Amino acid sequence: MTPTQIALVQTSWAQVVPIRTQAAALFYGRLFQLDPSLRALFRAPIAEQGERLMNMIDIAVRGLGRLDSLLPAVQALGARHLDYGVQTAHYDTVGEALLWTLEQGLGPAFDADARAAWTEVYGALASAMQAGAPLRQAASG
Ligand code: HEM
Repeated sequence: MTPTQIALVQTSWAQVVPIRTQAAALFYGRLFQLDPSLRALFRAPIAEQGERLMNMIDIAVRGLGRLDSLLPAVQALGARHLDYGVQTAHYDTVGEALLWTLEQGLGPAFDADARAAWTEVYGALASAMQAGAPLRQAASG
């Protein structure tokens, strides 16, 4: 992730923040269209879940320049996702729904460079979350 990519993600995210409620609704609509079986994993009301997801992305995007210091929290988040029944393949589906949502929300501002930068950022988060997952598995025997 280059400093230019970090800046691009932070600027484009700032444009999503004011419309985050609608963005979250779009995101889950798309996610459950891509894989209806994922709906059953979410027990909390979707509006509430959307708020948590947006807050987490917000923290991650703000912290991109110092991702190392966020790593323990992101790994712990990944470990909790095992308990939620999340499997490795689901990360691809969520990534696809997220990119689609950004495209809807940002329009032409979501150009090829922005897409590439977001793909990197999501990939880094997803890998860090998955790196936390086996720790939890080992710990629970
Ligand atoms: C970068 C990727 C992701 C981020 C930042 C993220 C963020 C979050 C956050 C902040 C929560 C709130 C609960 C907690 O803190 O433990 C949560 C819960 C949850 N996430 Fe994720 N998540 C990601 C990927 C995924 C994926 C790939 C799935 C697969 C479908 C998923 C499914 C869930 C489910 C089922 C819950 C629990 C909802 C409930 O109990 O109702 N997440 N996620």
